[in-house]
Amino acid sequence: MIQRAKISIIGSGNVGATCAHWAAAAELGDIVLLDIVEGMPQGKALDLRQAGPVERFDCNLIGTNDYADTAGSDVIIITSGLARKPGMSRDDLLARNVEIVAGAAAQAARHSPEAVIIVVSNPLDAMVYAAWKASGFPPHRVMGQAGVLDTARYRTFIAMELNCSVEDITALLLGGHGDDMVPLPSCTSVAGIPVTHLIPPDRLAAIIERTRKGGGEIVGLLKTGSAYYAPAAATVQMAEAVIRDKKRILPVAAYCDREYGIGGLFVGVPAVLGARGVEKVLEIPLSAEEQAAFRVSIDHVRELVEAAEKLMTGR
Ligand code: LAC
Repeated sequence: MIQRAKISIIGSGNVGATCAHWAAAAELGDIVLLDIVEGMPQGKALDLRQAGPVERFDCNLIGTNDYADTAGSDVIIITSGLARKPGMSRDDLLARNVEIVAGAAAQAARHSPEAVIIVVSNPLDAMVYAAWKASGFPPHRVMGQAGVLDTARYRTFIAMELNCSVEDITALLLGGHGDDMVPLPSCTSVAGIPVTHLIPPDRLAAIIERTRKGGGEIVGLLKTGSAYYAPAAATVQMAEAVIRDKKRILPVAAYCDREYGIGGLFVGVPAVLGARGVEKVLEIPLSAEEQAAFRVSIDHVRELVEAAEKLMTGR
């Protein structure tokens, strides 16, 4: 029997609620919005559900404060935690969010032992690690959303520069979801044309810089929080790849041990996403320069993970 998929979203702030919105619009399955704040997830879920007759999506949507309602989920999206304020880096959130995310992952995993977990909370790469440890899941069923968002920003800026459709731009970037992420011009093309044939090096460098700071640019404009439309859309694209077993190749924070010689961390790499979660990490050749930049990013992720581990084990 084909069953409806069930998606639980932990944390019902802007990112969580917008994930519910995109997931409902795509009719991905039934949706549970969970938050510790009483009434808020219930209110948002009921409101969104009432959009169904107008927008013609047919999903059961509930809001809850109780993890028991998430039982049997196919996908769990963790968005809980504090968001950045202007002047804060993602790393500044580590101490508070590691506790929140590990707690959420442990409870959600207990009720949905077969689920795939997608983590969105920041600092992303360390939060995926914390969620993995707390869940007890095999690493291929835990991943983080960063690369789809970062490449979406990069693709948007390239389309703005060339005054062409975003649909024709494909791109890839590697590394952590921080200001040292590594966009790969060698894997960026516009309708199959290498981007370097169309955009001069200084303009491309400026676009890459803007992409790296893309989250901060939005925090600076909003002043009260961080981005949510694009982060949520990116997350739901990953959830869709899992729920519909699409085998999409997307840049995700995936567990890499021997891959790229990373040694047991979650970092942004191209991966095949399907029903089993991260089904394969694709290893691609890198230039010496890309390799060096990737190393810097991995070292930064490692430092954050070590700090997160200390917080989790109380050492
Ligand atoms: C961003 C935050 C959500 O990149 O990390 O917008």
